[in-house]
Amino acid sequence: MPGSRLSRRPHTRAYHIMERALSVLYHGGWAAWLWARVPGACRVGLIEHELLVPGREAGRPPLRIAFASDLHLGPTTPREVLDEAFARLRSTQADVLALGGDYVFLGATTERVHELQARVQQVPATVKLAVLGNHDFWARPEHLEDALTKAGVRVLVNDSIRLPPPHDDVAVIGLDDPLTSWGVEERITLQEGLDAALARVAGVPIKIAVCHSPDGYPEVKGRGVRLLLAGHTHGGHIALPGYRPLWIPGPHGRLWPFGRHEVDGLTVFVSRGVGGSIVPCRTYAPPDVALFTLRGSH
Ligand SMILES: [Fe+2]
Repeated sequence: MPGSRLSRRPHTRAYHIMERALSVLYHGGWAAWLWARVPGACRVGLIEHELLVPGREAGRPPLRIAFASDLHLGPTTPREVLDEAFARLRSTQADVLALGGDYVFLGATTERVHELQARVQQVPATVKLAVLGNHDFWARPEHLEDALTKAGVRVLVNDSIRLPPPHDDVAVIGLDDPLTSWGVEERITLQEGLDAALARVAGVPIKIAVCHSPDGYPEVKGRGVRLLLAGHTHGGHIALPGYRPLWIPGPHGRLWPFGRHEVDGLTVFVSRGVGGSIVPCRTYAPPDVALFTLRGSH
């Protein structure tokens, strides 16, 4: 339903009050500045994976997909972290840049929206696509979509695209955000959205899904999708030694807090994301971006 596709979705009153309080508390960006002073805290990992896809024609070159999520432009994400994340993304020389949502924290201000556009514009990928996350729907999603579109990105909310040759045997499906689409009036369910997105690329043999949260998994499983890319969890954001999260949002996030997981022929990858959110630092949940290389296997 086009009118409600990007509707701003209200969060709880308690969360609204907390956001207002955090905006005052973090005013001036001191928290991100302090984070950046911690030795090593601005390092962003590049996580590389190979994915063998049975039946992919031998003549096709490998498909390289760079994935980044949870940028969280705002007062709790150091500029240095974003600089390194985007340097990593540019260095991959990927064919496709996929973005997993949560582009901002504490609102889509004009400054943040312009910064997002400028940073994404500089990534030299042939195809750029994005889904939106809970913080985007709580902000001004239409402004974020506009900025991303100007940066050459196709925003997929229950939508899909077929990649251009020589990777036109691959389609990418972008799902709505499972958390904020729940209970939204006039929304279509994730299942209906996925059905429609899949129907548009029915003849394409290899399908990859992007969803802000791994809680999109129940919809995607058993639907012929080979790879699900997600973020949202931040790997716990604050975790104990051994990368053991104290708390993770969502049932599938708790199952797969970060990393690659093979589930019934579907590869699920959950990124720890890049930026800060309520707590302006991370422990044992270092920021990451990812590069997936898809090859045929015979
Ligand atoms: Fe996030």
